[in-house]
Amino acid sequence: MSAFLKSLFATPILVGQSDDRQMAREICDLAYQFKANAKEALLVSSAWNEQKRSSDRSDFDQEGVTSFGTHAGLFRRPEWASAGQFIQQLAHTMLATVDHAGRQLRFGGMWTTVYPQGAFIPIHTHPNAILSGVYYALAEEGCGGIEFQDPNWVARTMHMHPDPRSFPSTPTKHIEEAVTGKMVIFPAWLPHSSLPNQSGADRIIVSFNLEFEDQPG
Ligand SMILES: [Fe+2]
Repeated sequence: MSAFLKSLFATPILVGQSDDRQMAREICDLAYQFKANAKEALLVSSAWNEQKRSSDRSDFDQEGVTSFGTHAGLFRRPEWASAGQFIQQLAHTMLATVDHAGRQLRFGGMWTTVYPQGAFIPIHTHPNAILSGVYYALAEEGCGGIEFQDPNWVARTMHMHPDPRSFPSTPTKHIEEAVTGKMVIFPAWLPHSSLPNQSGADRIIVSFNLEFEDQPG
């Protein structure tokens, strides 16, 4: 006889890396410009689940701040023209390596987030998008990666084994390391969080959503 294990229903994510450090620095400058001028901006970390907004710089420095709630179409803003083009090109170059049945994808949103020491974002999804992505403009060692959670984790943890690799258990979390210049594209329905930044420097990202070109805007 023979027996072999088949793993079903894998969740694909697409990982790429840019070595354009000049553009990464330019994006950091733009993110800091946003942070310097932001008003009534959404906070992250413990304030995220309440969707708390602030214009207070000390809140930005404590919790972290995102342009998601106020500037969610960065690629349409003149000051972000070149950076937005870079992010779009990188994503489309990565996406050209995989097949999506000939359907064209367009950017539906793009925003930046500055995470100070200790800042994180709780688990969430990106509703109404097909794919979502993150580009790390500044990600020093220890800054915390993105943690993906299998949405089927309840069913998968009904039978706990001492070793989570034992049949039929499978891991229900995956941490993708954050590295400057890295881009990760993933299904928008996939729950994810970002781990607390413990690098001693800011973690700066640009996030985006992609939708099918032929779906109503
Ligand atoms: Fe996200």
